[in-house]
Amino acid sequence: MGDLHLVVLAAGKGTRMKSALPKVVHRVGGLPMIEHVLRTAQPLQPASTTVVVGHRAECVRAALGHRSAVHFVVQKPQLGTAHALLQAEPALAGARGTVVLLSGDVPLLKTSSLRRLLQAHDESRPALTLLTAQMKRPVGYGRVVRRQGRVQRIVEERDATAAERRIGEINSGIYAFDVRPLFAALRAIEPRNIQGEYYLTDLVSLYRRQRRRVEAVMLESADEIRGINSRTELADVNTVIRQSKNEALMAAGVTLEDPATTYIGPDVTIGPDTVIHPCVFLEGKTQIGAACEIHAGARLVDAVLEDRVTVNNHCVITRSRIRAGATVGPFAHLRPESDVGENARIGNFVELKKTVLGAGSKANHLTYLGDADVGSNVNVGAGTITCNYDGERKHQTVIEDGVFVGSDTQLVAPVTVGRGAYIAAGSSITEDVPPGALGIARGRQVNVEGWVERRKKKD
Ligand code: UD1
Ligand code: CA
Repeated sequence: MGDLHLVVLAAGKGTRMKSALPKVVHRVGGLPMIEHVLRTAQPLQPASTTVVVGHRAECVRAALGHRSAVHFVVQKPQLGTAHALLQAEPALAGARGTVVLLSGDVPLLKTSSLRRLLQAHDESRPALTLLTAQMKRPVGYGRVVRRQGRVQRIVEERDATAAERRIGEINSGIYAFDVRPLFAALRAIEPRNIQGEYYLTDLVSLYRRQRRRVEAVMLESADEIRGINSRTELADVNTVIRQSKNEALMAAGVTLEDPATTYIGPDVTIGPDTVIHPCVFLEGKTQIGAACEIHAGARLVDAVLEDRVTVNNHCVITRSRIRAGATVGPFAHLRPESDVGENARIGNFVELKKTVLGAGSKANHLTYLGDADVGSNVNVGAGTITCNYDGERKHQTVIEDGVFVGSDTQLVAPVTVGRGAYIAAGSSITEDVPPGALGIARGRQVNVEGWVERRKKKD
């Protein structure tokens, strides 16, 4: 059988997207569409993975930067799909076995379908096995022309006659090739079509002329081989990916109050009995524990929530951890590297940045805590601000266990408030407060008796 080599076509511009970005890096279901394609192929454990890039190659490379096993080859200029695959020849020099070709713009493909394609291919070892399906409105796809049931050729829609356009069986653009005759045959393809491109699909008729065998595997449904060529198709496919994620979560015991307005990325995990309200966005590698409640309008990116956490309406939480039983929001902003302790409370209009808040501590109203290390059972009064930035550098504020910070306090960092200390409301704390002390740093109040009466007389 030999090895399995994967090639993914991703050099095209995607003209119909009307975008400065290459099509395959557009996000669908929270990930660049080409990432879905690579994830689908991963379980097949290919001996090599080659991605053909061209238009804005650097964007595609960046989108796949985390995949060290991917080998890139450049196609310039982009003269069509046959020309694109030909660029992989040097990368596959000496390779034996099977080349599986995937399109970077077909992100719904299932691993099970790829396995079926490979099984069929391995059974009879033809020169080429294509993956096809019947489609109700096959607009824009290559049509599979058969004679007496055998695949004869593929005709692109643009080049098809009216009769050929009525064919419902489409070419998915996904193929398994015997590597031996492949590249010589690709070189023989000529750009004789309306677009003047080297069509990979011409390989079918070419192989037929060479009396090589061409087989096809027809899927029951065309849903998963839908290509994305426009923003409308991008949105349609996005909906499909989102719905399947939602369904998997609900099957695992998560309540989604309104799945139609719930946006949960493919890598997000959620524990049972958690309730997600409408219009919630859960992105990146967000992990949510059991029995949590996420209210409407929240957006969580790479957040980690332990069990029984409540996130009230309209919070934005990025790369932060919220420990068991804690409550956040409404209208709270947790910026990266924040850590909210067990049963702690973050209230409305509170912003945290690189701040650890210990167990049972509270910052309930109108507060900014940046670069702060706050102990347990601390009460941070309304309107407290850490002045962590001096215009050049960031400085640390330390508030030890059991401290009471009065309302409207500024903590000018670097500064430490010792264990159990109190800070009087309205203080500008510029020096450390020892444990157990009262820190007070504000102008003394003066009441001028009779002042109003005297002023009125003057007027
Ligand atoms: C292609 C097939 C069509 C099939 C459809 C399935 C051809 C000629 N047609 O059409 O039969 O039904 O896919 O989705 O193959 N690309 C390159 N370099 C190029 C041109 C394209 O790398 O020079 C890449 C694109 O980035 C894309 C893929 O190849 O990932 C397919 O190209 P696209 O232009 O979308 O082909 P379709 O017109 O959809
Ligand atoms: Ca396409």
